[in-house]
Amino acid sequence: MQYNGIDFDTYFKNYPDANGYFGKYGGSYISPELQKAMEEITEAYFTICKSSKFISELRRIRREFQGRPTPISYLERLSSSLGNVQLYVKREDLNHTGAHKLNHCMGEALLAKYMGKKKVIAETGAGQHGVALATAAAYFGLQCDIYMGSVDIKKQAPNVARMKILGANVIEVTHGLATLKEAVDAAFAAYTKEYKDAIYCIGSVVGPHPFPMMVRDFQSVVGIEAREQFLALTGELPDAIVACVGGGSNAAGFFAGFLNDPVDIYGIEPLGRGEKLGDHAASLQYGTEGVMHGFNSIMLKDENGDPAPVYSVASGLDYPSSGPEHAFLRDVGRVKYDVINDEQTIDAFYALSRLEGIIPAIESAHAVAYGVKLAQKMGKGSVLINLSGRGDKDMDYIIEKYGIR
Ligand SMILES: Cc1ncc(COP(=O)(O)O)c(C=O)c1O
Repeated sequence: MQYNGIDFDTYFKNYPDANGYFGKYGGSYISPELQKAMEEITEAYFTICKSSKFISELRRIRREFQGRPTPISYLERLSSSLGNVQLYVKREDLNHTGAHKLNHCMGEALLAKYMGKKKVIAETGAGQHGVALATAAAYFGLQCDIYMGSVDIKKQAPNVARMKILGANVIEVTHGLATLKEAVDAAFAAYTKEYKDAIYCIGSVVGPHPFPMMVRDFQSVVGIEAREQFLALTGELPDAIVACVGGGSNAAGFFAGFLNDPVDIYGIEPLGRGEKLGDHAASLQYGTEGVMHGFNSIMLKDENGDPAPVYSVASGLDYPSSGPEHAFLRDVGRVKYDVINDEQTIDAFYALSRLEGIIPAIESAHAVAYGVKLAQKMGKGSVLINLSGRGDKDMDYIIEKYGIR
């Protein structure tokens, strides 16, 4: 399929290019020393992703350990409350550890093992990536250091406990806003010192090349499964698909299955408390081009051009940039990016819980809210939403802040 001059039949061969660029976005903006480490990772990744031994080992892990394929559920009661549009969810909440993050963590940890590394290092926001990586580290017998902002540590206490039970060191980051961006800074700084023995397992499709490509590839299992399952279930493709976008990993993997299809694709960013800088984390909506954490993309900047303070009720979405592939797909027009605020998210959180018996992660509830809004606008057809995770981690926080509705 051709779309605004881009050939989506051959898209995955051409994007990113050999230097990690999706158009002008992506690349690798790091010290020469770290660049060497990234080249080593890129080389190892290209070797293992062509190795039938690695591919069959990852497939076995996904089946026997992660519980894949995750199903698609039809949202019967929510759909009938909206009229003539059928809503479906891809159930990444049922992936082991309760979110999509394990899809790339098992791949990254398998790569670490192949490269002879002893330790995995990462940051986490909502704690889902940290839990997933701690799980992968336990599975493969690797040490695991997770950097997490003190605000998120407080907000996501159950995930902090899970990481510790799984044997990870949770290292508290107290500077700045003490959320995801600062955690990434700290994890990056640690990796710079430890790259000989450790591998940095980034939590999304962000960071220097090869991470945006590698994480998307590991996550594409979600989109590939979803496309096959939806066709088997309904005999057709969905009219539209929706995913939330923080760094953008669940969306990139989900979208990968449908980019070459006549399907409308929507990526949803958090509008938080409103449009004022500092009240949201909708970088693709309000940001400008810039370099952060080793990659060029669209980011929210303060008056000095530095990453701006951001906010969302969802810890996993409050990051001042998004992956370079999303910036590219936005410019090309293949994916439409839109926003959902905190209040709409909480309404969707309760609607999915009450009408369908599924408590969504507060990140995923952004996508559910948009799916509902889209259904009301479309009037007929079908919408498939990526339910990136389950909401157990958010329950205490939501009850404390919003009460039982
Ligand atoms: C359940 C869930 N969904 C979505 C996200 C956002 O990350 P990404 O945009 O990389 O999928 C997170 C991040 O922690 C998450 O925990």
